[in-house]
Amino acid sequence: TAGPLVDRYGRIATDLRVSLTDRCNLRCSYCMPPEGPPWLPSSAVLTDDEVVRLVRIAVQRLGVTEVRFTGGEPLIRPGLPDIVAAVAGLDPRPTLSLTTNGIGLDRLAEPLRAAGLDRVNVSLDTLDADRFATLTRRRRLPQVLAGLAAAATAGLTPVKVNSVLLRGVNADEGPGLLRFALAHGYELRFVEQMPLDAQRAWDRATMVTAEEILTALRAEFTLLPDPDERGGAPAETWRLAGFTGADGRPARVGVIGSVTRPFCGDCDRTRLTADGQVRDCLFATRESDLRGAVRAGADDEELARRWRAAMWGKRAGHGIDDPAFLQPARTMSAIGG
Ligand code: GTP
Ligand code: 5AD
Ligand code: SF4
Repeated sequence: TAGPLVDRYGRIATDLRVSLTDRCNLRCSYCMPPEGPPWLPSSAVLTDDEVVRLVRIAVQRLGVTEVRFTGGEPLIRPGLPDIVAAVAGLDPRPTLSLTTNGIGLDRLAEPLRAAGLDRVNVSLDTLDADRFATLTRRRRLPQVLAGLAAAATAGLTPVKVNSVLLRGVNADEGPGLLRFALAHGYELRFVEQMPLDAQRAWDRATMVTAEEILTALRAEFTLLPDPDERGGAPAETWRLAGFTGADGRPARVGVIGSVTRPFCGDCDRTRLTADGQVRDCLFATRESDLRGAVRAGADDEELARRWRAAMWGKRAGHGIDDPAFLQPARTMSAIGG
C-alpha cells in the first residue's frame, strides 16, 4: 500500500536527502574537527543496492518526488554514477540533485549528467585562496572553481552555490560572491551558520545573520521580490534588477536563514544517513534504524511502515532558540546537510 510521510502537524515529506558517505576531502570548520570526526566503519554504511532499494521504497510507496544526494562529500563514493542511474530509472522518476563541495566535479559532471542527474548545488564560501584554506583546512579552491564550470557546461542547471559567511573570516564577501555568481550564471544562496559543528563553537551572538547579509547586498544591488512561489524551499529569494540569469529571467539570489528566519513550518524533508538511519530533521535527537531492518530481512512494506512511523513524531521546529536546545550528537558531515 502507498501512503505519504505525514507528521502530526500535517506536513508531508516529499523531498528525500540521502547521505552517501560521512567522509570528505575538506575539513570545513563549521562541519568537522580538524582531524576529521570518527568515521563510520564501512560495514555500517549502506551498500549501493541497499541505498537504491530504500530510495525506491520512498518513491514508490511513500510519495517522495525529489531525491538529493549529500555527504560528507558524495562525489567520493565510487558507486555514485550507478546509484544515480538506478534512481533515475525508477518509475515514477524523481528529480535528482546533488549537494557537493565541487572537488572532482570537473571529471564527474558529464558522467553524472549522462546517468540522469538533473542539477547540483556546490558549496563555496570564499573566492580567496588563503581564506579557503583557513575555512576548509585544505588548499583546493581551484578544483572547486573547475568543478563549478564543468557543472554548468554539462547542463546540471541551475547550478546553485551555497555560501556560509563566518565572522572574522569571510563575512565581508557577500557582494563579491554575488558578483562572481552573476558573472558565471550561478544562483547564489547565503546560508546562516547552524549549530552543527564538532567543536560546538557556534555562537548566535556573532553569527552572520540573514539581515546583515541582505543589508550588505542592498548597498550594491537592487533586490526585487521574487514572483516564484517558495514552496517548502529553505531559501528566501530575490530577483536582481539589471541582471539576467542563465534561464533568461532576472537573476536570483537567496538567503537560507535557518536560525533567524526558520522555515520549519513548511518543511517537506526526510533524511537517510549513510548508515541507514531515518532522521526527521537536521536537528533530530532520535533516529530510526532502517539498516538493521533491511539486514534482518524486512520486506518493502515493513520498511515503508517504519519510515512513516519515524516521520510521524517530527517536532514542530528545530528549537535552536529554546533554552533547552541540545545540539545533535552527529555533526553536519555525518547527517548530510
Ligand atoms: P534546493 O532544492 O536547490 O533549493 O536545495 P536546498 O537548498 O534545499 O539544499 P542544499 O543541500 O543546497 O542545502 C542548502 C543549505 O540548506 C545547507 O546549509 C543545508 O544544510 C540547509 N538545509 C537543507 N535542508 C534543511 C532543513 O531541512 N532545515 C534546515 N534548517 N536547513 C536545511
Ligand atoms: N551551518 C550551515 N550550513 C552548513 N553546511 C555545512 N555545515 C553547516 C553549518 N553548520 C553547508 C555546507 C553545504 C551544505 C551541505 O551545508 O556548506 O553547502
Ligand atoms: Fe566536507 Fe561539506 Fe563538511 Fe565542508 S561542509 S567538510 S565540504 S561535508
